[in-house]
Amino acid sequence: MVVETLELTKHYSKGKVKALDGCSLRVEKGKIFGLLGPNGAGKTTLVKTLLGIIHPTSGSARILGEPISNYRVHAHIGYLAENHRFPEFLNARQILFYYGKMSGLNTELLYKRIPELLDLVHLSKWAKTRIHKFSKGMAQRLGLAHALLNDPDLLFLDEPTDGIDPVGRKEIRDLLISLRNQGKTIFINSHQLSEVERISDEIAILKNGKVLKTGSVEEFISVKQQYQLLFTEGDTPFSEVCAELNIPLVQTDGLFTVSVESDLQLNHLIDELRQQRFILQGIVPRKISLEDYFIDVVGEEAQV
Ligand SMILES: Nc1ncnc2c1ncn2[C@@H]1O[C@H](COP(=O)(O)OP(=O)(O)O)[C@@H](O)[C@H]1O
Ligand SMILES: [Mg+2]
Repeated sequence: MVVETLELTKHYSKGKVKALDGCSLRVEKGKIFGLLGPNGAGKTTLVKTLLGIIHPTSGSARILGEPISNYRVHAHIGYLAENHRFPEFLNARQILFYYGKMSGLNTELLYKRIPELLDLVHLSKWAKTRIHKFSKGMAQRLGLAHALLNDPDLLFLDEPTDGIDPVGRKEIRDLLISLRNQGKTIFINSHQLSEVERISDEIAILKNGKVLKTGSVEEFISVKQQYQLLFTEGDTPFSEVCAELNIPLVQTDGLFTVSVESDLQLNHLIDELRQQRFILQGIVPRKISLEDYFIDVVGEEAQV
């Protein structure tokens, strides 16, 4: 495991704020892991705790196989902080150079790597432009280049696409996928479901400092298979056939949607309906989006 937390707890303000409340998570190597949750869920607190910026109240965690108290692992970690700010009077190249020097990287290496990184994040043309002229998307891409200076094995990105337009978001997504394909592990904090849904291999939902659920995107989406059925009624009312087979049923705008556990159960229902002389006209699978699911489990706060 690249990241492993065990009952990690962080209280602020002498215990009045329980930002993390027994949070246990595992992140595998080479995966994009999306930590989703509404504002105030504890996502930033978790990442800051893992990075040793703040200390946990209780519980433990390991990153890259080492306890979080071992700061040496930081040499293999990149971090893009939420709402980061670089000195605005510097240009992109200077920022990467000074920050690289502060992390102990040597000049020769930086001279080689900085142009490569600027190219990677599509900022080569702007290398000598002072960053006060940068858009939010450009600033985020520069932040990403900064997080990649030490060629890290593990990247922590706190709200990387926040406030960025759709084209900029796609650029960042593509970049993250190519980094994952190089074998890096990427830990993304986000309250933007659609962003995380598209690129994460694994997702965890955090609320009030607690992990509500973890799983692959597929697992989240196929919580239950839903189908919309179109038919003319047979001998028994449709609701009775469903009740008999213990299949939940919802009716909206004259259409019936059933939730089944498996393909087999769907076929049982069809057999039963045919026996009762229903005429089936259509069976349409309905995918539950992660967003529906998220709003379902997290509640109204999630609707940002
Ligand atoms: N330094 C702090 N002192 C007191 N409370 C804090 C501090 N930092 C965060 N909090 C509180 O902890 C909770 C979790 O915050 P945070 O980790 O920033 O959540 P998220 O990143 O998911 O939005 C929130 O209620 C927030 O107000
Ligand atoms: Mg945050």
